[in-house]
Amino acid sequence: MPGDDFSDLAGKVAIVTGSGRPNGIGAAIARTLARNGVSVTINYVSERSAKPAEDLAQSIRDEYKVGVAVVHQDVSSPEGAQRIVAETMKQLGVDHIDILVNNAGLTRPGPLLEATVADIEKQFSVLVYGPLYLTQAVVGLGKMPKGGRIINIGSIGSRTFPVALPVYAAAKSALDILTVLWAGELGRTHGITVNTVAPGPIATDLVDKTPETASELVVQQRGSDRIGEPQHMADVVLLIASEKSRWLTAKYIAVDAGILGNC
Ligand SMILES: NC(=O)c1ccc[n+]([C@@H]2O[C@H](COP(=O)([O-])OP(=O)(O)OC[C@H]3O[C@@H](n4cnc5c(N)ncnc54)[C@H](OP(=O)(O)O)[C@@H]3O)[C@@H](O)[C@H]2O)c1
Repeated sequence: MPGDDFSDLAGKVAIVTGSGRPNGIGAAIARTLARNGVSVTINYVSERSAKPAEDLAQSIRDEYKVGVAVVHQDVSSPEGAQRIVAETMKQLGVDHIDILVNNAGLTRPGPLLEATVADIEKQFSVLVYGPLYLTQAVVGLGKMPKGGRIINIGSIGSRTFPVALPVYAAAKSALDILTVLWAGELGRTHGITVNTVAPGPIATDLVDKTPETASELVVQQRGSDRIGEPQHMADVVLLIASEKSRWLTAKYIAVDAGILGNC
């Protein structure tokens, strides 16, 4: 008898926001879904990520023989979200989106009293408004079918309450609540699951900006004495995207080598 696999994913279509950096969590997720037959959209916003995003897309096409769209677009406006969905359908020649991974993110570390209006608005617009507009866009324009998956990439910062990240952690906390609310609405009306996958410290450009926070957290890891890798996140997202996770929704799943314990 054959063992279990992820073959139900073959032929599906996924958007992974903020996936153009080769060493980022988004790129690992896009590559892992593609390896299992999913056509994917690589999304980026910075000019400097244009070439890496195109290179990543080409290497995924060559290696896994799936469709790959590349969309240069800011996630944080309704128009931007609609454009990501419309471009995905146009470039891949599909009429719906099965999986949305809200991964795009950034931090502006520093004391609350020094946070500028621009810093505050930027973090909330990318970490909260972006996932919200993308979710509206994939369900509406993207006609996400029954069995669809919305996977929000959170942060254990929403539960460890890091003093150095007062706005970022608050925005990720908001996303945690939205996951539960959207799961309630979209599960009943559309048969879509919504979950948060929350990384502990993972070696990417983002964590390089807050090295002290990351090394402090590694000391708190129960299961390892080294920082995590993007693939640790991608493997959990793969499981949630698959049919095997059909009864899993409204959940907060920390991929953190045990920092949060059973909280
Ligand atoms: N690494 C960690 O330890 C860690 C821990 C907790 C949570 N997280 C979360 O994990 C997710 C991925 O982070 P990462 O570590 O892989 O960081 P990363 O390497 O810095 O990647 C973040 C990505 O987000 C994209 N992005 C930022 N603003 C955007 C916007 N307005 N529109 C579209 N894309 C945008 C960036 O695109 P460009 O390349 O075009 O700039 C970049 O590719 C984030 O949500 C982050 O908050 C990470």
